[in-house]
Amino acid sequence: MDNFIFCSPTEFVFGRDTESQVGALAARHGAGKVLIVYGGGSAVRSGLIGRVEDSLRGAGLQWVTLSGVKPNPTDDKVYEGVALAVREAVTFILAVGGGSVIDTAKAIALGAVYPGDFWDFYSGKEQPMAALPVGVVLTIPAAGSEGSGNSVITRVATHQKLGARYPALLRPRFAVMNPELTFTLPWEQTAYGIVDMLCHIFERYFSPTVGTQLVDAYSEAIMRDVLDQALTLRMQPDSYDARADVMWASTLAHNGLCGVGKVEDWATHKLEHEVSALYDVPHGAGLACLAPAWMEVASRRNPDKIWRFAINVMSVDPTGHTTDEVIAEGIAMLRDFYHDLGLSTSLTELIGTKPDIDALVDSLKKNFGETLGSYVALSPADWREIYNLAL
Ligand code: NZQ
Ligand code: ZN
Repeated sequence: MDNFIFCSPTEFVFGRDTESQVGALAARHGAGKVLIVYGGGSAVRSGLIGRVEDSLRGAGLQWVTLSGVKPNPTDDKVYEGVALAVREAVTFILAVGGGSVIDTAKAIALGAVYPGDFWDFYSGKEQPMAALPVGVVLTIPAAGSEGSGNSVITRVATHQKLGARYPALLRPRFAVMNPELTFTLPWEQTAYGIVDMLCHIFERYFSPTVGTQLVDAYSEAIMRDVLDQALTLRMQPDSYDARADVMWASTLAHNGLCGVGKVEDWATHKLEHEVSALYDVPHGAGLACLAPAWMEVASRRNPDKIWRFAINVMSVDPTGHTTDEVIAEGIAMLRDFYHDLGLSTSLTELIGTKPDIDALVDSLKKNFGETLGSYVALSPADWREIYNLAL
């Protein structure tokens, strides 16, 4: 195990009716005037925005709102939010939604206190020195942004979907997590979220670092539970306990706990971000195509952890089978699981046409150079093979 620092300072307030505490939380975390950021309307239709406003009013806080954040959030909404935050002298950003809303809120938090272009922090041109504080009311368990120090934004003009990682500035001050808020999710959004949180653990579990027995053991336990609860939710979408497990798992998958003491991988995410940047598909839907394809290529050069995943997470019985057979069965079972969730594992089916692999590879090179990943170092020829296996 490598040396590590683990700091997850977000105050998580979990359970039924917890959104009623948002005003008191924001006040306690120093909010003056609040900018509420939300998406395309689900939070208005469910009455959540009204309850959040009641809670802010009860705490004596003022607010303005920014609506219309789209999935795979774009820079234009960030610029709009930065201008609004500056004009209204906002001191606190409150995201009410999922990863797209939270990531937009984080980008606004960076841009509102910076005289230049917020994109400088995503392109790597500058390092931020400050950000407004961000709070979250989570409505979809998926991206894990409620506990992460990351934000992912798409620059429309260049089709670049890039992440900024500044944990000291971007980890939310608090995250309100009421599993009942996820009852209104369309099934496919629940499924995309499950794929995404599992992949956040894959990116850390499949690591070249050895001697990480404890981290691997609890990572496997979280993955097994998500697989179980996902199938429960497929049959009983209003099971509070299954919704609660999946919601907490989304946070544990991506707040850093599963990556302590390890070199992380992140090749699958980078391969997917190119797809959602170019074709605007949901992030989790792209990952369902690419994660099994990544395993096929990576296991040829470094089979050990993928073999262990097949046995300990996918419950493959290794008795009498070669390593290759166990791995092939584990990957097949993962694809079957995605199909059981009603998802496709074919990029061509997802996008509706064969993706332009040359364009995806060229963009990856431009954004990240010639190598991706650490479990195995993947070259552009490997990226091409993974995209082809995912067709
Ligand atoms: O916009 P509304 O109307 O709210 O609808 C949303 C949206 O259409 C809907 N939704 C959310 N909560 C709902 C609901 N519908 C009914 N009831 C509810 N309770 O769900 C749709 C998807 O929302 P979105 O926020 O896009 O989902 P998700 O949380 O999966 O976020 C995806 C984004 O996060 C990024 C992804 O790349 C993608 O852009 N990621 C961010 C990460 C981070 N910041 O750490 C890490 C991840 O790997 C990921 O890359
Ligand atoms: Zn993800």
